[in-house]
Amino acid sequence: MTTNVIGIPLTRVDGRAKVTGAARYAADFNQHAQLHAVIVGATTGLGRVTALDETSARAMPGVVEVISHLNAPRLPYGPHKSFIDPAVGERLHVLQDDQVRFYGQPVALVVADTLDHAERAANALRISYAAERPVVDTHDPAAQTVEPSGSGAHGDTLRGDADRALAEAPVKVDATYDMARENHNPMEPHAVVAAWDGNRLTLWSKSQFVVNEQAEIAAIFGLPAQNVQVICPFIGGAFGTSLRTWPHVTLAAMAARQVGRPVKLVLTRKQMFFTTGHRPRTLQRVAIGATRDGRITSIVHEGNGETSRYEQFTEALLSATSYMYSCPNVRTRYRLTPLDTGTPNHMRGPGEASGIFALESAIDELSYGLGLDPIELRRRNEPTMDEGADKPFSSRSLMQCYDAGAERFGWARRTPAPRSMRDGRLLVGMGVASATYPVFFGPASARVRLHADGTAAVEVAASDMGPGTYTSMTQVAAETLGIPVEQVRVSIGHSDFPPAPPHGGSMTMASVGSAVRAACLAARDEVTRRAVADQRSPVFGAALDGIEWIGGSLRRLGDSSPGQTYHDVVASSGQPVEVHASNQRDADAASRYSMHSFGAVFAEVAIDPDVGTIRVRRAVGTYGAGRIVNPRLASSQCTGGMIGGIGMALMEQTALDTRDGRPVNAHMADYLMPVNLDIGSLEAHFVDEDDPHVNVLGVKGLGEIALVGMAPAVANAIYHATGIRVRDLPIRIEDILTA
Ligand code: MOS
Repeated sequence: MTTNVIGIPLTRVDGRAKVTGAARYAADFNQHAQLHAVIVGATTGLGRVTALDETSARAMPGVVEVISHLNAPRLPYGPHKSFIDPAVGERLHVLQDDQVRFYGQPVALVVADTLDHAERAANALRISYAAERPVVDTHDPAAQTVEPSGSGAHGDTLRGDADRALAEAPVKVDATYDMARENHNPMEPHAVVAAWDGNRLTLWSKSQFVVNEQAEIAAIFGLPAQNVQVICPFIGGAFGTSLRTWPHVTLAAMAARQVGRPVKLVLTRKQMFFTTGHRPRTLQRVAIGATRDGRITSIVHEGNGETSRYEQFTEALLSATSYMYSCPNVRTRYRLTPLDTGTPNHMRGPGEASGIFALESAIDELSYGLGLDPIELRRRNEPTMDEGADKPFSSRSLMQCYDAGAERFGWARRTPAPRSMRDGRLLVGMGVASATYPVFFGPASARVRLHADGTAAVEVAASDMGPGTYTSMTQVAAETLGIPVEQVRVSIGHSDFPPAPPHGGSMTMASVGSAVRAACLAARDEVTRRAVADQRSPVFGAALDGIEWIGGSLRRLGDSSPGQTYHDVVASSGQPVEVHASNQRDADAASRYSMHSFGAVFAEVAIDPDVGTIRVRRAVGTYGAGRIVNPRLASSQCTGGMIGGIGMALMEQTALDTRDGRPVNAHMADYLMPVNLDIGSLEAHFVDEDDPHVNVLGVKGLGEIALVGMAPAVANAIYHATGIRVRDLPIRIEDILTA
């Protein structure tokens, strides 16, 4: 009778709603008497607004209001920090002064009856600037490098004497890597509908963190948090860009209050390159020393990331370097370059995806220096514990991933020498790289209501940007309650629901899943209490610990009857069971163990030596990520992440005009991303990993690691195919033709 649904490849419970258009995204919501707002962005990269002529704009059809720093209300901008936001600096205070800090910064907002009218009037605004030359390039001689202050989370580390060991190493690599700035570019644009009712505000807003958006907007407007409601049932991809609450949400709320009507504001694709974060460009140096038989004796990893002038965005660029390899001497050094651009933010696999590209490229370089197979090099330096944290791993299946992946991929067919494999005219290369990401966990609560008809309603303020939160939480609830998935209804994406951590950092399954499980167990307890107190129940009078649950029924321990169904208990008691519970984590385990996912990523490229075109023909990702709740969705999530990694390797780059900081390719024609024709065969596999320490579900999370490791696997395959080592991303045709 037990319903084992955790681990089955259930199709998406919200799939029908998505394909029929019933699923509603932020911009799909409409309110009575709603107006449309359009943001006008600065056309200079630094300076101030000297004049703003709105006469003709105001006279245009349908225009209701033009808001700028000249007439915008001064907002309290009360303090609010979430752990998603930069720890140092002050967030952009929008339309509060005449300063222009970066190209595209909102300087005005036009509100009109239709989107067309608002756009036309926005184009008619005449704005003058006192422009200064912005610094937007890390290599600009005027750019300064600073030490990150404040958080300390991503600071410098040292164990042993890495520089001396490097100097003394008989075999070494020492190389620098330059990775381009990227923008998230989800399919769904940022969008918000803001509606006031007196002093209460409702936002239908694209957000990966509705309870944080509620708190932040409340702080900005000086309201109690309970006066703000944020609703976001569906997200059309986000990849981190909706973790923060960006200025457009404030602007929509500001406008709606000013005009006394609901306001809808949708960013254009172009605007999503200005104010909604980006993966910072990074410059990294990796130096590795080794003995002739391939023991790593030293790793030096220095990294530099972009940030804005007004906030310090830091990410875990160098964290993995301390635990990936067994090595007595490791030094990391992290610096930032503040630029006149918007603040970067987390983008899928933030930190690790960039840091691992450099580290895993350097390891590959070292393997050729040693004449060793790159997997064998990793095997010889596989640590038995986290040497950086001086703790055992809760589990680490990296070598199992390599074994399983090599088998699947056909690594044995690879001939070791660069430029040694061909398919007709094409050069063929095979590359590998390791992947890793930490197991994060955040406090979450869930509410469960059991109805007399046998259905269960689960509520939690989590989000689903695509991985399948609705489905995986349905599986956890169905299994814990012992009922069919059809009887479970999961509701998420509403700030009134019990709070959840950000839908990011790959922590939703671990955190929210644990909360859903806790709430379902609490619901069972409540049913048990009612049953044993009910004279009509077959278990009347039994002790609470004398009851066992089988499927959705309870009976006396040792009894072989089918028992009483929980909905029968609920029906006889005359009122639904409603419970609320929070997730718990074994704090002791969390402090005793180092918790990370690991993976091995294999790529095969084919390169036309005459025209330099690079194709990723096949890729296999093998992951040890704890328990897999839904292999179908997990596989889909991982192949999606692998596509993101192929984009990082070969296509994606946000290019800024150094004169004014304007992104020159802020549209889908010139910001290249992989499409179907760019992708060959992709496979994701999971090795069995039973980790009792990470959380009650034994899950580690998959969202981020799915992108980590793909770009270095491709770069390493390109080297194997051509003998050309490219250390700057994206790798282009020119890199192949001009080498
Ligand atoms: Mo992911 S960058 O944590 O949305």
